Amino acid sequence: EKGGHEFFMLKEIEEQPAGVADTLIGHYADGQVVLDEQRWSDQELREIDKVFVVACGSSYHAGLLAKYAIEHWTRIPVEVELASEFRYRDPVLDRSTLVVAISQSGETADTLEAVRHAKDQKARVLAICNTNGAQIPREADAVLYTRTGPEIGVASTKAFLAQITANYLVGLALAQARGVKYPDEVAAEFNHLELMPKLVAKVLESAPQVRAIAREFAHQSTVLFLGRHVGYPVALEGALKLKELAYIHAEGFASGELKHGPIALIEEGVPVIVVMPSPKGRAVLHSKLLSNIREVQARGARTIVIAEEGDDTVRPFADHLIEIPAAPTLYQPLLSTVPLQIFAAEVAMQRGYDIDKPRNLAKSVTVE
Ligand code: F6R
Repeated sequence: EKGGHEFFMLKEIEEQPAGVADTLIGHYADGQVVLDEQRWSDQELREIDKVFVVACGSSYHAGLLAKYAIEHWTRIPVEVELASEFRYRDPVLDRSTLVVAISQSGETADTLEAVRHAKDQKARVLAICNTNGAQIPREADAVLYTRTGPEIGVASTKAFLAQITANYLVGLALAQARGVKYPDEVAAEFNHLELMPKLVAKVLESAPQVRAIAREFAHQSTVLFLGRHVGYPVALEGALKLKELAYIHAEGFASGELKHGPIALIEEGVPVIVVMPSPKGRAVLHSKLLSNIREVQARGARTIVIAEEGDDTVRPFADHLIEIPAAPTLYQPLLSTVPLQIFAAEVAMQRGYDIDKPRNLAKSVTVE
């Protein structure tokens, strides 16, 4: 069942190219992005003037990425909120609000309550879910299934990549309905998505290198993660994987915040994992990250840098360099997350832990 792997999680990491590909199947037809079980007309989609994304844990990190894509493509304001916080602060919701609830299991209590609250307030609710017929999709007005197959490992991996993919489909469908993107632009973005499974598979080829690096860091007590723009949610996700699997204190930061506090944590030997933006994206982001790596390295940090192939500017500052294939900025998280999953799994295995069943955690959190 584990396909020759010692743990389900390792198998699920390898299933990611297929998970992304399968999540795209059937969502582009006759020159249009189509969402399934979606009963809203284009007119109704056009009326949406605000999007909330609600989720917990890794699904929340996928939600953070939705904001970058949906705002960029549609110009609709997007707020991303932890489901456990959402309904307690009386969010402003009405018929023109779309609430996207992301849940792998479809049973997470806080996310379900957020859905109920949104429906009470007459918002339109779309569930992104990996489990057919679970409670959240049953109660939502519309469902977009991530089709990555059951995820057994408690730590989310393949569902995370599939959720990012699904979020981007929602963004493209909204952009198309509002007419803010021409059909050929929507087609071009969909084509990029379709190219991703191959690139994710390429990242998986670097697993032996990532595992070797992880073995060197297996006995650390703290690991810090830095990212910016779409690299920031990736840093948060990398840190979550490491803390839940390896029980190491791990924290992700937006690199622009470094000087506002976190840099005080840097001392001799602290590992800092940096998610570099593409050098072909916004140059300013790239150069800012570069100076952040310099700053932490000058203070004794050991740097592990995830950067695009051929980005030689980072070499002098990377104690370890993990290269990922080039991809447009919004799609990079589908690649940069993968080495962080492998890193966390390997560190945890080195420490002798069961990565499928981390202590104190349950696969679906059905109590608030
Ligand atoms: C982390 C992880 C959890 C879940 C969270 C939400 O690896 O798996 O943080 O992402 O409990 O679960 P779902 O997506 O089922 O609502």
